[in-house]
Amino acid sequence: MEKIVNKEAEESKREYWNTFSSFYEDTAELVTLQSSMMLYSITQSRNKSRICEVANGCGLAIRMFVGQLMKEGAYMFTSDISDLMNEIFVKRFGEADFAKNEKVKLTSLEETESVDVNKLVSDLGDGVTKKVFNIRASNESLPYPDACFDLYISSLSMMIVDNHHNQLSEAYRVLEEGGTAGFTVWGRKENSSFFTFFPKVCKEAGIELDTPARTNFHLGVDKEALVADVKKAGFKSAKAYYTQINPNFGSPEDYFKFYVGAPGFAPAYEKLNDEEKTKLKETFDIKFEEEFGLESETGTEWEILVVLATK
Ligand SMILES: C[S@@+](CC[C@H](N)C(=O)[O-])C[C@H]1O[C@@H](n2cnc3c(N)ncnc32)[C@H](O)[C@@H]1O
Repeated sequence: MEKIVNKEAEESKREYWNTFSSFYEDTAELVTLQSSMMLYSITQSRNKSRICEVANGCGLAIRMFVGQLMKEGAYMFTSDISDLMNEIFVKRFGEADFAKNEKVKLTSLEETESVDVNKLVSDLGDGVTKKVFNIRASNESLPYPDACFDLYISSLSMMIVDNHHNQLSEAYRVLEEGGTAGFTVWGRKENSSFFTFFPKVCKEAGIELDTPARTNFHLGVDKEALVADVKKAGFKSAKAYYTQINPNFGSPEDYFKFYVGAPGFAPAYEKLNDEEKTKLKETFDIKFEEEFGLESETGTEWEILVVLATK
């Protein structure tokens, strides 16, 4: 079946994620690290030599991977649709201790539809033993040749792309026979109080939030259906696991700052008048204390769905 990519939808995702790149680094990246570490662990990433990671975000997890898990002699291509995510990725990589080691090199590539992976890797020579490349690209149309990777990683991006079937078919295409893919997506709403808490508070404070046409739970809701999609893309095996990751921002103030700045809520919050903002904060403080305060034995929970697949 021919792959059709909605370029307009991609452009708006790029803008959206550009807007939230710094915020993401300040607040979310330490939480989503849990998802990335799960993927690096279950995919046996330290034994792989030709790695593709998509939707790199600001890159905290990838820096940890390169520093501690990446095999000597391995190469890794990373990509994100957002220019500003990639900008932060490159800046932070350059600031990392390992960047002072001349055996580790990050190359930032110009956007192109066709990357000559073998040439780029061999041009760096044998002196560089950890070769990392970064490029602006969509998960739905990767610029790499067929079958050039033994590992493909996608942490918390497949539920965001416009068409996840395109992402799956690209993951399949760029992997060699026997290659491993690891994906995480949001899990089920009922097990993700981290995301359901704030809409509940808004409702109680009498604040209407826009209902998105599709929420980030849309793939995690049905594990079997997602596994069927992975197999339909050609993968010969796929296993899926629900698991919790546990966000903790510490103080209620930091939670509030996160919620009102988060991509899903910030636009609605900005439209509120001062009175509505005060009412929202007061309601939030009461509800937070009730559900997650010092007396409570429950923290905020976020369920993810992990998929491990073999080509
Ligand atoms: C929730 S963040 C995950 C980032 C990182 N993988 C992590 O686990 O922290 C989603 C990322 O997907 C990127 N993204 C959104 N749509 C994309 C697409 N179609 N292709 C590539 N990246 C995309 C965003 O720019 C953002 O960096």
